[in-house]
Amino acid sequence: MQATITVLPGDGIGPEVTAIAVALLKDVAALGGHTFIFQEALFGGCAIDAAGDPFPAETRIMCENCDAVLLGAVGGVQWSDPTAKVRPEQGLLRLRQHFGLFANLRPVRAYPMLASHAPLRADLLEGVDMLFIRELTGGAYFGARQEQGDGDTAYDTMIYSVPEVQRVARVAFRAAQGRRKHLTSVDKANVLASSRLWQRTVKQVAAEYPDVQVDHALVDSFAMQLIRTPSRFDVVVTENMFGDILTDEAAVLAGSLGMLPSASLGEGTFGVYEPIHGSAPDIAGKGIANPIGTILSAALLLRHSLTLGDEAAALEGAVQAVLESGARTGDIAEPNTAALGSAAFGEQVRAALRKAH
Ligand code: IPM
Ligand code: MN
Repeated sequence: MQATITVLPGDGIGPEVTAIAVALLKDVAALGGHTFIFQEALFGGCAIDAAGDPFPAETRIMCENCDAVLLGAVGGVQWSDPTAKVRPEQGLLRLRQHFGLFANLRPVRAYPMLASHAPLRADLLEGVDMLFIRELTGGAYFGARQEQGDGDTAYDTMIYSVPEVQRVARVAFRAAQGRRKHLTSVDKANVLASSRLWQRTVKQVAAEYPDVQVDHALVDSFAMQLIRTPSRFDVVVTENMFGDILTDEAAVLAGSLGMLPSASLGEGTFGVYEPIHGSAPDIAGKGIANPIGTILSAALLLRHSLTLGDEAAALEGAVQAVLESGARTGDIAEPNTAALGSAAFGEQVRAALRKAH
């Protein structure tokens, strides 16, 4: 098949990790006889520096004219002045909103070979395999806000409409049907009106999916259960900010924030694929970042936007094989053991991919 992929390396470790994922996508194309056309554009803090805008029109047009976007990360200390009018993160929110990417899929699994590294007991991690579906274009991220730079009040509004909840709930129910048929919907219905609407709507949508068992959990209690008994969760659906927070927490189960990929999807096959870790300015430029989250995001891109499920599985299998071989980046290495840099780790994944072909 032929596909055009826009690459937005962004800031911090973004360029380091996307370069590795692009090399792997080129391998996937060569091995499978596909033609992937890559086009790169400015996004985030580097786009503010170059064009005064974190999501310039030129970048937007390139994203409009492609099949999928692979994104590194945005942000950094040089753009984090609290009084700044233009921020890298605004680019990310505008990108999500512009393409109506309301469903953010964040799969979380525990790798048995990393269990000794995770701060949780190995027996708690057994069988951990869940899929978070974070609502991505609503809630406090997009509600009315009043920002008073020199005033003494400010507010954000957590707002949801029934159709917004329905569409993300349906994505979650359908995902659950293809998995263990269990869905946990997370809200704060004992306090928030938007959560009561959320819960009521998820209960209504549940009638369309009688084969899926649904539980409703309060976000505070869920945050605890996620660490106490993580293996009992299958698909988890929640609003934007709860999903942001809970998926960073869930990354502990996978061994490192660097492991987790994500797919941001709307109604069609177009999607934006990015690791959940962010720009990590403290390690940027050192070549030590864990590229797994971005590589697995590239696998999600193959599966969801290009319907290349076999190729996606091959890429995921290559990551698995390299981890089984004992190769580690610094964030997942045992203390006092040698760790590979990002590029060397990426080369091992490339070799594993070729070997499995
Ligand atoms: C994420 C990030 C973003 C978010 C930031 C960078 C705006 O934390 O994708 O999880 O909060 O959505
Ligand atoms: Mn986040």
